[in-house]
Amino acid sequence: MNGSTQGTSPARQSGKYLVTGGAGYVGSVVAAHLLEAGHTVTVLDDLSTGFRAAVPEGAAFVEGRVQDAARVLDPAYDGVLHFAAYSQVGESVQDPGKYWRNNVGGSMELLDAMRESGVRRLVFSSTAATYGEPPVVPIREDAPEAPTNPYGASKLAVDHMIGAECRAHGLAAVSLRYFNVAGAYGSHGERHDPESHLIPLVLQVAQGRREAISVYGEDYPTPDGTCVRDYIHVADLADAHLLAMAAMSEDGGRVPSGTHLVCNLGNGNGFSVREVVETVRKVTGHPVPETAAPRREGDPAQLVASAQRAVRELGWRPSRTDLAEIVQDAWDFAQRPSGRSAPGSGAGAV
Ligand SMILES: NC(=O)c1ccc[n+]([C@@H]2O[C@H](COP(=O)([O-])OP(=O)(O)OC[C@H]3O[C@@H](n4cnc5c(N)ncnc54)[C@H](O)[C@@H]3O)[C@@H](O)[C@H]2O)c1
Repeated sequence: MNGSTQGTSPARQSGKYLVTGGAGYVGSVVAAHLLEAGHTVTVLDDLSTGFRAAVPEGAAFVEGRVQDAARVLDPAYDGVLHFAAYSQVGESVQDPGKYWRNNVGGSMELLDAMRESGVRRLVFSSTAATYGEPPVVPIREDAPEAPTNPYGASKLAVDHMIGAECRAHGLAAVSLRYFNVAGAYGSHGERHDPESHLIPLVLQVAQGRREAISVYGEDYPTPDGTCVRDYIHVADLADAHLLAMAAMSEDGGRVPSGTHLVCNLGNGNGFSVREVVETVRKVTGHPVPETAAPRREGDPAQLVASAQRAVRELGWRPSRTDLAEIVQDAWDFAQRPSGRSAPGSGAGAV
């Protein structure tokens, strides 16, 4: 524990944090927010899907695997924010072992390293994919957990591992189950390869880098017949991570040692595929041709979060819930030379 921060809230006092996966999309934005709040940050990333240039200035960078976290962690760290994982749903179906080894195996090594070095606070990037296709929308944390692919299953396994670690060894942890993360934060934005997320794919069409956007199914029981998803601005998501770390403070925080809190993070507002496409047309001023395609297996009509628990337990309030603002920030990023995410084949993965 950092002597200057012991027993205090990281929200009020500066702390020292390890950010695994901080060269990726979400991790780099959270690392930037931590630095802006006056904290000290070390990024541990193997650059398998991330970029060295995405690591925010002011963060120390260690190129390495989360499996080697023991070489980085020491008792001076106040906590870990764990983003490092593979997250392509389709790839996880084709090569499940890759996902068990990296996402589950890597997290196991990280928990061991945290215990051995006495670092007792963890924020983990979980996902809406742990719920699969829940019957009731908006989705609360007590919805049945039934992932439909190895990616979601690997994240659920880590959530279980973390819960057990908290009960057995006094870790304090918050798993944040993100819905569709979108938008950008200045020079930090989404660059997946291949890209599978809807907003960057539609922006590629607006840029003329893809011919058309495929709309998978137009006969869903939704207002315009296309699938509805919950898009959360990456900067709102980052705020939740700092609040989660603060909730694990030792002076009466809501998540004391031995506790594992699981919170959904979403906008609470669903937007349909057609609304996203229309918004991209308005924001960019460019044409976006569409191609009608059949429904994809396993694509539920609506996936919208209830984030009431995060509001209640963490004091979180998303403030960038307007789709046009989310798309505008993503568009500004996409036009930077560093913002050219790779063309992908599908849309809508969580
Ligand atoms: N982007 C979303 O919409 C979304 C939604 C739900 C959950 N998540 C989760 O959030 C986290 C971040 O997602 P992202 O979109 O920023 O992905 P990303 O691919 O941009 O970032 C992941 C980072 O982790 C690194 N990494 C992977 N395995 C590693 C390992 N073993 N050791 C060290 N570094 C490793 C990669 O190089 C990359 O920089 C992931 O855990 C993902 O499952 C993302």
